[in-house]
Amino acid sequence: MKNVTPLTRVTLPQAPRNASPLPWLTSIHSSIGRGPWGSSRYRGNCDGYLIKDLLQYFGARSVLDPMTGSGTCRDVCRDLGIPCVSFDIKSGRDASDASSYRGLEPADFAWLHPPYWRMIRYSENPSCMSNAPSLDAFLGQLTHVLTHCRNALTQDGHIAVLIGSYQDRQSGNRQIPLPALTTQAAIAAGLWPACTDIIRFQHGNTSSRRTYRSSFIPGLHDVCTVYSEFHQHKKYWPHTKESARVIPLPISSKPQMP
Ligand SMILES: C[S@@+](CC[C@H](N)C(=O)[O-])C[C@H]1O[C@@H](n2cnc3c(N)ncnc32)[C@H](O)[C@@H]1O
Repeated sequence: MKNVTPLTRVTLPQAPRNASPLPWLTSIHSSIGRGPWGSSRYRGNCDGYLIKDLLQYFGARSVLDPMTGSGTCRDVCRDLGIPCVSFDIKSGRDASDASSYRGLEPADFAWLHPPYWRMIRYSENPSCMSNAPSLDAFLGQLTHVLTHCRNALTQDGHIAVLIGSYQDRQSGNRQIPLPALTTQAAIAAGLWPACTDIIRFQHGNTSSRRTYRSSFIPGLHDVCTVYSEFHQHKKYWPHTKESARVIPLPISSKPQMP
């Protein structure tokens, strides 16, 4: 069988011309470098370019960043002159607890970059999402975070969530499809995707520099989905009952992880 040439360069498909103020922002996002925001030393950090593009595309005037990590989103906001409320469980505020949002002015954009469940452990704190004892518990907590962020936004606000699939070593390298499960959680929280999913290439991943003895297809991307409140989409499904928007798979009935 003829060997396939390894892909070292990817030619992106041509994007249609449109009225977007950011014509380079498409469903594929690739930036080699992470920019001057946040810190590359923080495990699981992300680059700031996608955040910057999204804030500009959606014309954000105030931002909520309840899982700040090294502060990438906070720093991008500072550069763009956009007020940003930024906190993290490490600074004592739990994004899955409603009291963390008390007294906040409504923001019009939330940036959420949660742990990819237990892929990286961020702290010993039992409220840290990376310590969720099961996939169900993680998704339940994520649904709370999404609901609180939705309640903390203006009616026409947007919530961007960046998350990726990974192979979970503790359950025999089972694939955990977090982007799909996050969309289920978002719909359960009264949200709906506001635009195409964005595939973000993960340049400079720690795991990409390692050598493994096992065989697998390396995952080199994560997925960013931007949601808005379901009521904004309701005019397209005027007969949809509020209850019907929830995917009929309650979190508690999902297969249990060992
Ligand atoms: C993927 S990291 C975010 C990295 C960040 N985007 C950056 O570029 O540095 C996820 C963050 O979520 C935080 N976190 C986990 N559970 C949380 C919770 N319940 N409330 C608030 N923050 C939480 C972790 O401490 C960690 O800093």
